[in-house]
Amino acid sequence: MQSKIRFSIIGFGNIGRRHADQILNNEHTTLVSVCDINPAVRTSMPEGVQFYDNLTELLSNNNTDVLCVCTPNYLHEAHTIAGLNAGLHTIVEKPMALSVAECTNMIATATANNKTIFAVKQNRYNPPVQEVKQLIAADKLGKIYMVQVNCFWNRGDTYYSGSDWRGSKTKDGGCLFTQFSHFIDILYYLNGSITEAEGRINNYAHTHNTEVEDTGSFVMKAANGAIINFNFTTCSYNRNMEGSITLFAEKGTVKIGGQYLNTIEYQQLEGAALPAINITAKSNDYGLYQGSMSNHDKVIQNVVEVLLHNQTIMTTAEEGREVVRMIEMMYDSAH
Ligand SMILES: NC(=O)c1ccc[n+]([C@@H]2O[C@H](COP(=O)([O-])OP(=O)(O)OC[C@H]3O[C@@H](n4cnc5c(N)ncnc54)[C@H](O)[C@@H]3O)[C@@H](O)[C@H]2O)c1
Repeated sequence: MQSKIRFSIIGFGNIGRRHADQILNNEHTTLVSVCDINPAVRTSMPEGVQFYDNLTELLSNNNTDVLCVCTPNYLHEAHTIAGLNAGLHTIVEKPMALSVAECTNMIATATANNKTIFAVKQNRYNPPVQEVKQLIAADKLGKIYMVQVNCFWNRGDTYYSGSDWRGSKTKDGGCLFTQFSHFIDILYYLNGSITEAEGRINNYAHTHNTEVEDTGSFVMKAANGAIINFNFTTCSYNRNMEGSITLFAEKGTVKIGGQYLNTIEYQQLEGAALPAINITAKSNDYGLYQGSMSNHDKVIQNVVEVLLHNQTIMTTAEEGREVVRMIEMMYDSAH
């Protein structure tokens, strides 16, 4: 491998551009090429970056080490597999894919090519999430009894009208895949997997522009025995209201909150208190709507550390697949 890791990106939309910024900002990485089927994207190429409208052509140039898959959800499987088969490591945006079967194909291709898939779950790096993760790892919370996850966001008409994939059942998959898979990942990261789910979903305010639900509520059982409450909507009036995870445990109650898991909103702990954390500036701001915390610098740095220094991968493909399995289980249970 070269002294700088060479990256390519497929899909130069909202998130592809964030990958580009962070690759260009990292002293150990360089951006070689970008592929997008939208020809208008060509004019916004960073200096020195080669543009392709065709992935096969990009891959045949044989001058890159890592492919960032930043295309719509339904294309993650095909683009990841193409990258792996060309001998590249891949970073795949969330959700890893739209089914466990797709994720399994991706993992099998990575194994066959001896390459790594990095799943993007950048909310794991949020400082409050890391604080609570360490609390749990040190067994400072004791047995976890119940976890409440609330995802109350707003997605208006402009969000859907500008896109040919958002809100489509087959291309987007639904809110649990596109808007709230980060919250399911953090639930999994902090409390482990779920074994049972029972839910209700409905489309209240987006029937004119989506084929999926916009509101849902689930009661679930975690493998560790905890009861999980998971509530979500994209109908929070006018703006995002809350994205939170509250853990009720033997030795403490803690709520990670804010709009996107960026603060510790409440804590009552047997041991030492967690530091005050209240980050207000660092969300992914897309102009017309806000998303999760913008930690893609850390995602790229993790790839550097894994590939150059053999460090631990933050989110493996197997974990990405487990989150997809949880989402599938939730949708299968919903009526
Ligand atoms: N990690 C996060 O917080 C986060 C945030 C936003 C989006 N995402 C994920 O990133 C992915 C893209 O989301 P987005 O908001 O950037 O979407 P977007 O619509 O803004 O961008 C997608 C881009 O892919 C291009 N594209 C579509 N089909 C293609 C093909 N066959 N070959 C090459 N290019 C193609 C489109 O032209 C577009 O430029 C989704 O999977 C989404 O869930 C993750």
